Amino acid sequence: MANSKYEYVKSFEVEDEVMLPNLIVVRIEGCNFDGFADIHDLEKANDEKALALMNSCAAAVLEEYPDIVFSYGFNDEYSFVFKRKTKFYQRRASKIMSLIVSFFSSVYATKWKEFFPHKEMKCPLSFLARVVCCASLEVLQAYLAWRQNECHIRNLHNTCLWMLIKSGKSAKEAVEVLEGTQKQEKNELLFQQFGINYRMLPEMFRQGSCIFMTQAEDVVKHNEHGIPIKRMRRKPRMIHNEQIAGRNFWNGQQYLLTELGPFENDIKKIKAEYIKSFLFENKLMPSTWIVIRIDGCHFHRFSEVHEFEKPNDQQALNLMNSCAVAVLEEFKDIVFSYGVSDEYSFVLSKDSKLHQRQASQIVSVIVSFFSSAYVMKWKDFFPFKELKYTPSFDGRAVCYPSTEILRDYLAWRQVDCHINNQYNTCFWMLVKSGKSKSEAQSHLKGTQTREKNELLIRQFNIDYNTLPVMFRQGSSVFRMKEEDSMMPENVTPTEVKQNIIVDHSNIIEDSFWKEHPSILC
Ligand code: GTP
Ligand code: MG
Repeated sequence: MANSKYEYVKSFEVEDEVMLPNLIVVRIEGCNFDGFADIHDLEKANDEKALALMNSCAAAVLEEYPDIVFSYGFNDEYSFVFKRKTKFYQRRASKIMSLIVSFFSSVYATKWKEFFPHKEMKCPLSFLARVVCCASLEVLQAYLAWRQNECHIRNLHNTCLWMLIKSGKSAKEAVEVLEGTQKQEKNELLFQQFGINYRMLPEMFRQGSCIFMTQAEDVVKHNEHGIPIKRMRRKPRMIHNEQIAGRNFWNGQQYLLTELGPFENDIKKIKAEYIKSFLFENKLMPSTWIVIRIDGCHFHRFSEVHEFEKPNDQQALNLMNSCAVAVLEEFKDIVFSYGVSDEYSFVLSKDSKLHQRQASQIVSVIVSFFSSAYVMKWKDFFPFKELKYTPSFDGRAVCYPSTEILRDYLAWRQVDCHINNQYNTCFWMLVKSGKSKSEAQSHLKGTQTREKNELLIRQFNIDYNTLPVMFRQGSSVFRMKEEDSMMPENVTPTEVKQNIIVDHSNIIEDSFWKEHPSILC
């Protein structure tokens, strides 16, 4: 990133490395999944296809991230367990958590039509995610036992609830019938009223699903005599088991023994203090501006594979902006956002109570919503280009204690946009004119803004200041409030939706903020 006088704002970012010997687990769960299930008319209490889609996304996560060795999921949630000494992204919690939830959400949106060919995915689904640190294998064992126990309790409850509702009771009446009932009573209710033997329901509903990697022999090609050539390959394998945290199951899987180790004993009772630690979440400081910055993962490659125009692809940037508009429509607490290249910064109001200011919840819900929207909107912006693989974004939350520092943060990003864009414009013009990439690089080494502008004019007859303003200044997305002055004269808003506008003003100077006094009030 380029140097500027605003660089100091980086010091507000906090370290969040998960120290060894803690084991890293990332748990994700659908945010407002009930609403999503209603909109898409999913089967109650369990929708087999929706569960299969969750399992398929989890398998894709395991294939994408080799450091994840085990996963367990039910309903709208999944937990991913990393190998003992993983060095994945230097064990940075927010990075790891956001990448996984982003990738999962993108895959979910991509695979939807495979599982629901006759149902359109009507809105992006976002997931809440958190990192759970397990100080030892025994704690991990307790974690898994706790999740599987939840699966059982919730499934039994939901099965009863929906049978009662389907038999004619209102939701309120059904809840009243079940209030205070124990497992045994629920089992009896199902059997006596509906002739259902709970134990005969599908294992996937009752026990959840485990997916982990195994080594399997695979035919890679055939030799000239038609004889198959086999190689050992990592392959995700799905298992349903009643006791995933039991010694019998766990210690029987060679792969888990190697990557994580054996369970010494069976768990009798899950310690309350462990559960408390699984539920712990960091809260962001009150009365500070929260910025969630998301950034495309390996977008250098993504833009090559999808043949984005260099250095700026208008449609790719429009797609990013459109996703940002969708994010602002969804999250009313976001007052402003600024985007450039493959990144976007979302500013939440100082007094926002979104997800009780819990850092990982806010980051995950925004990054996963954005990722899902990116996949869903792709064809609107690239009708003739296939999305070749699922993109993912990482995310972080940073608090800025004053409006002045927040503005310096935004200025930092816009200065970065300017410096990078100017460099890239020169670089690609030199390359397009016949120089090799390394020649272009050494040509530009140590040049200042003025020299680069001169180079563009002299060699290519390009006046840098006449290039599209979106390329030079990035994009701001915000709500136009009535009390603010009307659109500034020097910018053309490219999208107007529910009063949310995309513009490309200079946000470093005071004039922008004077024209829009209510944004950061
Ligand atoms: P990580 O973020 O560290 O995972 O790597 P990254 O490859 O995403 O790089 P970074 O975020 O630092 O920079 C974004 C990269 O995305 C740029 O270097 C470009 O290669 C690419 N990119 C973003 N926008 C465009 C575009 O409009 N056109 C083209 N051709 N490339 C783009
Ligand atoms: Mg990136």
